[in-house]
Amino acid sequence: MNDKPKSGKPGAKVGTKVNKAWLHDHINDPYVKLATREGYRARAVYKLKEIDESLGLIRPGQLVVDLGSTPGAWSQYLRSKLLHAGVATGRTAASIIALDILPMEPIEGVTFLQGDFREEEVLSRLATAMDGRLADVVVSDMAPNLSGISSVDAAASSYLVELAIDFARQHLKPEGALVAKLFHGSGYDDLVKLFKKTFRVVKTVKPKASRDRSPETFMVGMGLRSPDTV
Ligand SMILES: C[S@@+](CC[C@H](N)C(=O)[O-])C[C@H]1O[C@@H](n2cnc3c(N)ncnc32)[C@H](O)[C@@H]1O
Repeated sequence: MNDKPKSGKPGAKVGTKVNKAWLHDHINDPYVKLATREGYRARAVYKLKEIDESLGLIRPGQLVVDLGSTPGAWSQYLRSKLLHAGVATGRTAASIIALDILPMEPIEGVTFLQGDFREEEVLSRLATAMDGRLADVVVSDMAPNLSGISSVDAAASSYLVELAIDFARQHLKPEGALVAKLFHGSGYDDLVKLFKKTFRVVKTVKPKASRDRSPETFMVGMGLRSPDTV
């Protein structure tokens, strides 16, 4: 299961005390238990599930891009949601393209690309996998590895969100949606402004599965503003 301080939560200190507290919370966490029971690879799945259930983003026949996908819980959720809904409505042509800098165990029906989202070559591989199609939804749970220097970590995290917004501008359908993880701290307000400049409707969600002490929050942008107003 992920969500470990070391795995990239800006603001979290990596030390024995914090790791002990994390381990204690992790073992007793109802979402960890639920994820194990339901066969999900990470408790993070319940964050996307709550966002999706409140906004109705994931629908049959969509193309969804999952950025920062490893270990794969969001992709598992997307797959089951698209598959079940697709079977129910007879529209099963859904596709999921997942990307992470780390490897990911395969998930049937999910095209996985390994690479760094900050690199041009990786972006062009992603575009090739999309094969000229525009995405209905882009989800990004990307979080950088911590350096321990808060200004550096905040900048690294903001940069990934900026890139995700840029990607959405180029590869989302006009009515599409972007879900991205943001961290409170320096740069947060600028990212909110950028979201509002890019999308017609912007919502902030702090899902129940997101720990109170975590500075993370999720921003959802829906409907791209036309380029001349951006
Ligand atoms: C919190 S985890 C994602 C968990 C995932 N949503 C799930 O449900 O299993 C964040 C992921 O972002 C990835 N990541 C961080 N920086 C990245 C980058 N520059 N390019 C691609 N992936 C990146 C990390 O490798 C990590 O796997």
